[in-house]
Amino acid sequence: MIIDILTIFPEMFEGPFGNSILKRAQENGIVNIALHDIRDYSNNKHKKVDDYPYGGGAGMVMKPEPFFEAFKHIDYNDETEIILLTPQGEPFNQEIANDLVKKKHLVFLCGHYEGIDYRVQEHFVTKEVSLGDFVLTGGELPAMVITDAVVRLIPGSIGKEESFLNDSFQNGLLEHPHYTRPQEIHGYKVPDVLLSGNHQEIEKWRTEKSYEITVNKRPDLIKNIPEDTLKKIKKVCKE
Ligand SMILES: C[S@@+](CC[C@H](N)C(=O)[O-])C[C@H]1O[C@@H](n2cnc3c(N)ncnc32)[C@H](O)[C@@H]1O
Repeated sequence: MIIDILTIFPEMFEGPFGNSILKRAQENGIVNIALHDIRDYSNNKHKKVDDYPYGGGAGMVMKPEPFFEAFKHIDYNDETEIILLTPQGEPFNQEIANDLVKKKHLVFLCGHYEGIDYRVQEHFVTKEVSLGDFVLTGGELPAMVITDAVVRLIPGSIGKEESFLNDSFQNGLLEHPHYTRPQEIHGYKVPDVLLSGNHQEIEKWRTEKSYEITVNKRPDLIKNIPEDTLKKIKKVCKE
């Protein structure tokens, strides 16, 4: 997968992209991430990328020319998903991450100030995504979060020990609790079933816990549980 990110703060990405799974995925050629500093494409001698809004009012607007210029250096086509990070977009979730991982090429546009001149959106953008119903100062943090959530889904990106298949939301439910050694700490014990070696019973316990946690913490998810997950719940609960 290729990911191009248009930003005025490329250095913000160093920490999240220079560590852990994202670092490894780039080193292993699973993802190729290119950061484009929008200021490099400014035609202003002071590298200014914002200007006053037409119609007046407070706040600045990101100028369109640097974006149009930057796209001349990006090899995109009709299949490329060009994503504008905006609080007005579709709220990001696991389903969107699962869709985006099927794409070969993503481009993220990180806004600042009041946002980017609307004509950039009209001309290039294929999808608007929001991180949630709140306003951040820029699109960099959402671009990092979405990149992380998508790249970890690329086959080979995470090891078997970090498998995402049972993660929360993947099958419509929140995940069951996890335990590791020691078997007891400060009087808190690991549930017996997990020490039993009985894989059928363990699977049953995990499915029940997963369902119970979802009902308690996110009852809104229950009405959208996919058919195959429902079948699995009914099957293990019968046993
Ligand atoms: C201060 S915000 C602009 C908000 C804009 N004036 C509005 O009210 O819709 C600056 C930039 O941060 C990014 N941003 C802020 N909140 C976001 C969110 N919840 N999801 C995704 N991007 C966000 C966008 O790229 C946006 O252009």
